[in-house]
Amino acid sequence: MPPLIEPFRIKVVEPIRFTTRPEREELLQRAHYNVFRLRSEDVLIDLLTDSGTAAMSDRQWAALFQGDEAYAGARSYYRFEEVVHSLTGMPYIFPVHQGRAAERILCALFGRAGTVIPSNSHFDTTRANIDYTGAQAVDLPIPEALSPTSDHPFKGNMDVERLEALIHEVGPERIPLCLLTLTNNTLGGQPVSLGNIRAVKAVLSRYGIPLFLDACRYAENAYFIKLREPGYADRTPLEIAREIFALADGCYMSAKKDGLANIGGFLAVRDAALADRIRQLLILWEGFPTYGGLAGRDLEAIAQGLLEALQEEYLYYRIHSVAHFATALRRAGIPIVEPPGGHAVFIDAARFAPHIAPEQFPGQAIVCALYLQAGVRAVEVGSLMLGKRDSRGVHIAPPLELVRLAIPRRVYTQSHMEYVAEALAELYSQRHSLRGFRLRNEPPFLRHFTAELEPL
Ligand code: F0G
Repeated sequence: MPPLIEPFRIKVVEPIRFTTRPEREELLQRAHYNVFRLRSEDVLIDLLTDSGTAAMSDRQWAALFQGDEAYAGARSYYRFEEVVHSLTGMPYIFPVHQGRAAERILCALFGRAGTVIPSNSHFDTTRANIDYTGAQAVDLPIPEALSPTSDHPFKGNMDVERLEALIHEVGPERIPLCLLTLTNNTLGGQPVSLGNIRAVKAVLSRYGIPLFLDACRYAENAYFIKLREPGYADRTPLEIAREIFALADGCYMSAKKDGLANIGGFLAVRDAALADRIRQLLILWEGFPTYGGLAGRDLEAIAQGLLEALQEEYLYYRIHSVAHFATALRRAGIPIVEPPGGHAVFIDAARFAPHIAPEQFPGQAIVCALYLQAGVRAVEVGSLMLGKRDSRGVHIAPPLELVRLAIPRRVYTQSHMEYVAEALAELYSQRHSLRGFRLRNEPPFLRHFTAELEPL
């Protein structure tokens, strides 16, 4: 085992700004208790997301200079295409400006009222894109995924029996595709096993339903397979990733995660006729097929990043440093989703603040208190992000109330994370004083990004 230290040294630094508690009280009030409305300069350690926040390597920065900015046929596209093709095996590869652009195109081609799109768990932008077409997004996680204390090694798995039951219930002709999200972000950054992907594919093949992967954290998922799935310990993350993609009919990826890039993504498919239809929408919404909403330099940075994210030393550090942070929280008694995920540690807000009802957003209470306490920004993944209302306006809570501490790739050192763990331990000792929130306004979809709240 290599030592558990950052496998890089720091060449460029970016100062972070310290604020006082009275300043943060005012800043949070002005942000209407929604941390998406804070300025990043007012945040000391930003664990809002691991998306687009990675530190690029010296080789990625060098690659930027090689960007070919030609409108059509840019060299950078062909380099990008070669890397994505060698990873996924897919013959048709379309760059997009980020993951949700791929979701929009896929949903426009496959989704309409009356159709159903199952997943292990849809991410919020995926669900919103599906809803927008009138189709229905259905989550089919295994039961263990809904138990924060279960230490099942592959809590990202899809419930294959429920998938089959769903196909029987609605009919295969109403299921235009099935998605698997690697890793399952919404339920804790949990991996999907190769055994499960194979089983899902076998069921879908019987009914002629295509399998698509939301592969934005494919490298972390591949590494979990290496660590946890029998028979894979001696395989490289690249070999495992190739085996995963070989089972899919198509995939899309937000390169802002395991692409180690600050922007970008792609959509890739095997079917030529489908590729023709994608190309038309890509030109309409994103750009010419050899840049798809990105600059040539972005394509270069992604091509390099996709390779770096599969390096074993990097993945060892990545997965183990997240686990190390989880250990510090566990030691302080803080209830977390077990086992810790690949890109984040999730706090079980329902157990952290059981005195706050779901409709008063226990996760948001923790997020706000953590900012006030330490200048650390986390994100609620619970009733605020995923909750709904029934026709009478009564709150329908999602299965879990979580707070996500997402860890940007290669950005924060161990001492930064120790500081966060100490702040959370302090907060946990005062948890009985946390108070809930009420919504002041409610945008119609993806409300958590812009909603205004007030403390109760
Ligand atoms: N799918 C998953 C599983 C994601 O986590 C995200 C983004 C997307 C799709 C959409 O990609 O942002 O490039 O359009 N997740 C970010 C997050 C926003 O914070 O987890 P995008």
